[in-house]
Amino acid sequence: MSAAEGVILRENAQVSIIIPTYNESRNIIGILKSIGENLPKNITAEAIVVDDNSPDSTGKIVDEYLKNVKKIAGYTMDVIHRTSKNGLSSAILSGIQRSRGDTIIVMDSDFSHPPQIIPKLIESLKKYQCDLVIASRYISGGKINGWTLKRKIMSKFATLIAKKGLGVKTKDPMSGFFAFKKHVLKGINFDAIGYKILLEILVKKSGIAIKEIPYTFENRRVGSSKLDISTATDYLKSVWKLYKFGKPKEREEKRSSVRFLSKASRFYTVGLSGFGVNYIISLLFVGGISDLWYLHATLIGIIASITTNFLLNKTWTFHDRDFSKKRTFKQYGKFVTFSSLGGLVQLVMVFYLVDEYQLSYPIALVLAVLSAAFGNFVLNKKYTFKEKVWG
Ligand code: GDD
Ligand code: MN
Repeated sequence: MSAAEGVILRENAQVSIIIPTYNESRNIIGILKSIGENLPKNITAEAIVVDDNSPDSTGKIVDEYLKNVKKIAGYTMDVIHRTSKNGLSSAILSGIQRSRGDTIIVMDSDFSHPPQIIPKLIESLKKYQCDLVIASRYISGGKINGWTLKRKIMSKFATLIAKKGLGVKTKDPMSGFFAFKKHVLKGINFDAIGYKILLEILVKKSGIAIKEIPYTFENRRVGSSKLDISTATDYLKSVWKLYKFGKPKEREEKRSSVRFLSKASRFYTVGLSGFGVNYIISLLFVGGISDLWYLHATLIGIIASITTNFLLNKTWTFHDRDFSKKRTFKQYGKFVTFSSLGGLVQLVMVFYLVDEYQLSYPIALVLAVLSAAFGNFVLNKKYTFKEKVWG
């Protein structure tokens, strides 16, 4: 094939396969070859390796290989050299920027993502008329080979956080193996922290058609995973960012009474959880993690439970995701004030009911607790979280 033809193929590439590498000297050439062998014959494709100046010379090895390799019909290869290790997500974005195809495939370079699945990914985009196809370990037919129990649990846990915390419906939002039409990225402003570029797409893009197809993830045979503790904290950071990004998608319940009651029941569930927090934290500080005087421990328990109550009510009961410092501190101040006020109301009421109205103490207590709790909810709803009382 002439060089000119090679150029034409590059221009025409329909599918761009993005392959980030960091210290993959023993995998990269093998994976490039294997991708070439597995590509469907009727398409033109380019592989773009994105290397972050790997100390094991992955980048140079690819350069050498590309100098000598005989171009394969319909398949070109390219490499981007970045100067330092800047994270998987941002490497993928660099690759996409360089890409020419209107279909993008993202995959690892360590054979965990079998190149045999590539044709299925491409076919599925057409067959199911969708914009994004995810190779999934967590739908029926999919699985993971060779992972330790610990890694499996971590993965499941991360997936659970994404589903429950971010409302993602996909079964494997942590997948690193997926294909999509380039237009999917339009309008997304990426944070690109850490590993989870797919999750970012899933949260930030709505209205696209998504399909998952099963595959078996094979743990890498050579080299080691780059996933470490900082990847895990990056994950939590990015979930937090995505969480704040998301607009609460509450099914708008029309009946005010139902809205009121469901918020009230969340508010009191949180209140109950506060007892647990209070108890556990107090006990931890008398003899658990430290040995404080029991009154100090109790105080810490109270502060801890007010704080968890506040955060849970803010995020869960009232769906408030605005965590700007000023707003949050102001709300916290009001919340603490109303909580203390509740205690005071309770004391005064018990006193009056027993002393003036001669009620028995148990009945007086129930009445006082109920009024304080009710007042607490209404005041926080109206003044702390600025909602109408009814509704
Ligand atoms: N350029 C670049 N820069 N590449 C990186 C970087 C980086 O900072 N970090 C990792 N890579 C490359 C690796 O060389 C490999 O090709 C791929 O990204 C995945 O890294 P691994 O270290 O092998 O990740 P893993 O196997 O632990 O995790 C995989 O499975 C997860 C599923 O739970 C990845 O596919 C994850 O994306 C996936 O979520
Ligand atoms: Mn891997």
